[in-house]
Amino acid sequence: MGKVFNLVREETGIGVITFDVVGEKMNTWTEDAFSGFDQVMHELETTKGVRGVVFISGKPENFLAGANLKLISQIESADEVRGTIGLFHSSFNRLCAMGIPSVAAIHGHCLGGGLEFALACTGRIAKEGRTTLIGLPECNVGLFPGAGGTQRLPRLIGYGAFELILKGTMLPAAKAHEMGIIDRLIPANGDLLNAAKAFLEEIIAGEASLKRPAQDFSQIDSVAEMARAGILKATKGRELPAPMLALKSMHEGLKRSLAEGLEIEKRNFVEVVLTKEAKGSINTFFIKGMTDRPQAMMTKGFVPKPVNHVAVLGFGTMGRGIIIDILRNTQLPVLVKDIPEALEPGKAFVRKILDGMAEKKRLKEPVDVMMGRLSMTSDYIDAFKETDIVIEAVFEEIGVKRQVYGELSKCIREDCIVASNTSSIPITSMAPFVLKPERFGGIHFFSPVWLMQLVEVIRGEKTAQETIDNLLNFAGLIRKRPIVCRDNAGFVVNAMLFPNLINALTYIEEGNAIEKVDRAMTRFGMPVGPIRLTDEVGIDIPYKAFVGMGIRQDTLKNVVGAGRLGLKKSGKGFFLKDGSVDPEVLPLIAKRSPHERTEEGIQLGLLIAMIQVGKDLLDRKIVNDVRMIDVGIIWGLGFPADKGGPMKWADLIGLSKKLYGKNFY
Ligand code: NAI
Repeated sequence: MGKVFNLVREETGIGVITFDVVGEKMNTWTEDAFSGFDQVMHELETTKGVRGVVFISGKPENFLAGANLKLISQIESADEVRGTIGLFHSSFNRLCAMGIPSVAAIHGHCLGGGLEFALACTGRIAKEGRTTLIGLPECNVGLFPGAGGTQRLPRLIGYGAFELILKGTMLPAAKAHEMGIIDRLIPANGDLLNAAKAFLEEIIAGEASLKRPAQDFSQIDSVAEMARAGILKATKGRELPAPMLALKSMHEGLKRSLAEGLEIEKRNFVEVVLTKEAKGSINTFFIKGMTDRPQAMMTKGFVPKPVNHVAVLGFGTMGRGIIIDILRNTQLPVLVKDIPEALEPGKAFVRKILDGMAEKKRLKEPVDVMMGRLSMTSDYIDAFKETDIVIEAVFEEIGVKRQVYGELSKCIREDCIVASNTSSIPITSMAPFVLKPERFGGIHFFSPVWLMQLVEVIRGEKTAQETIDNLLNFAGLIRKRPIVCRDNAGFVVNAMLFPNLINALTYIEEGNAIEKVDRAMTRFGMPVGPIRLTDEVGIDIPYKAFVGMGIRQDTLKNVVGAGRLGLKKSGKGFFLKDGSVDPEVLPLIAKRSPHERTEEGIQLGLLIAMIQVGKDLLDRKIVNDVRMIDVGIIWGLGFPADKGGPMKWADLIGLSKKLYGKNFY
């Protein structure tokens, strides 16, 4: 393996150190990088006549993306963390104490331990560009900047560093320059190395005006208090270790000398790395990366069928949502079919949502241009012959689906991919209705489609791998995050949700207050509690699903029977408009023998309900990778990202071993 840091001493006495972690797309602080850094520092310290040094990345689009998260997530002992973080600190302190000035020449990602390295240099110059992002995003992965970031950044730019660190904001070069993180900015077509050398010469000559204001931290107690309130607001009261320990490091460290502050930061970092939340968040980071590009999930070497025309059957709740995502994320013409009365209301709805996005400047094109790509029909017109993919989102009745597929089959090409958005009818049971069962699969969206990233791509018994790959490609085109599973009642997400809901209802039937059950789950980190979720989606939806699955649920039966389908749906449900429980619903709750449960008991009970299903999905090979389940539950149900998904969390809290003798991961 080649050297990571290469020093060239130029005739002028300027040293140029190019770094490149060979074989990796991104530079990160790997073991090789540290030993390379040690070597190059030794070289610098022993080479005569070097007046100053420029650090520049050898990668085309990346300065240094920080610590290696895979390595960090595998650390199990405090001593190991101390060793690793000690290496960062001693390396960067050595750089600061070098006696000659240094300049970080930045292009591409300069994040986390990459920025902390740049902060230890005398000056920083950055080249503008799409990939140049500068920041300390560690709090987003359950860690915090522990290699000097919590001490050096506030000392450089003041209290503004608090928000950047606590929110993990990544800034474009110009913004980082404006905030004083970067001293010099050059345009995207500039010559970074020469500009960095010129900047270094200015520093050596004492001519560079470096803004290094003496920061006043006398108000730090009240700033820290406000920051704490801000964190708790964002986490709905949950004290997540990463931002809390980051804040503690800044609050305590900035009252002391840099050296003392760095020691405080180090101690807190040891604590944060060992938390379950750090391991959970890092898992979320990786499974997100795995599904960020659906095309990368296709069979290796597969070339997807070109998609030039799309059709959607059904212009109801789901059809509208799917069309919104096709129009805003692709240039594809879309044909929608529904009964004549459904067309104009559907179109008006799509326009309303797109207009709202345009107002928030979230669209790349005018709404009229997007709407121009939508055509509507009530008949199977010739245009269906042109479609490469048809998404079916008609009524959830097998008779309707049979008729629709029968008619559709007469007017599409044989190579057309057909996918159903059914939520409960097995794909395999509909396969006989379609022209080519191997080109038929499921693509299950979540409502509202334009807000929910997840789709489940479903493999029926006859679905060809090619069809799955083409559906993954389509998911990528419309910017969804897919998971792949086999046919199964409730697929993955609803299969996991239903037992969870049944347990929640059981707990209220045992006399635990609705508020208490919901609060336990929001404190766990879910966006809403299970009873409120039921009220919001429509109480009849899980009720009908349970009936279909042969499950008796008396409370839902009573509530739906009383015409209470949910506050939004029928004006009455479990809750009143002010958010409190409607007293009228209380007599409808079925009674069981009383059993008071603690908050932890409720959380654990609902988690176990999910884990048992997850285990069954794996055993029956409904999914072939546990990570698919965690992606589904994080992006389909809002499971807290800091817990890494239900299956990962079960591993982290020891539940998997207790229940099944081994971990899922
Ligand atoms: P919806 O009732 O809002 O819309 C269905 C539309 O299909 C109606 O506009 C209806 O006129 C149209 N339709 C009926 N027969 C048709 C035919 N022969 N040709 C063309 N259009 C026809 O229903 P929704 O909620 O949009 O559900 C559609 C599908 O999506 C169902 O299979 C459902 O299970 C599934 N789904 C629903 C979710 C939801 O949250 N609503 C979530 C995920 C899937």
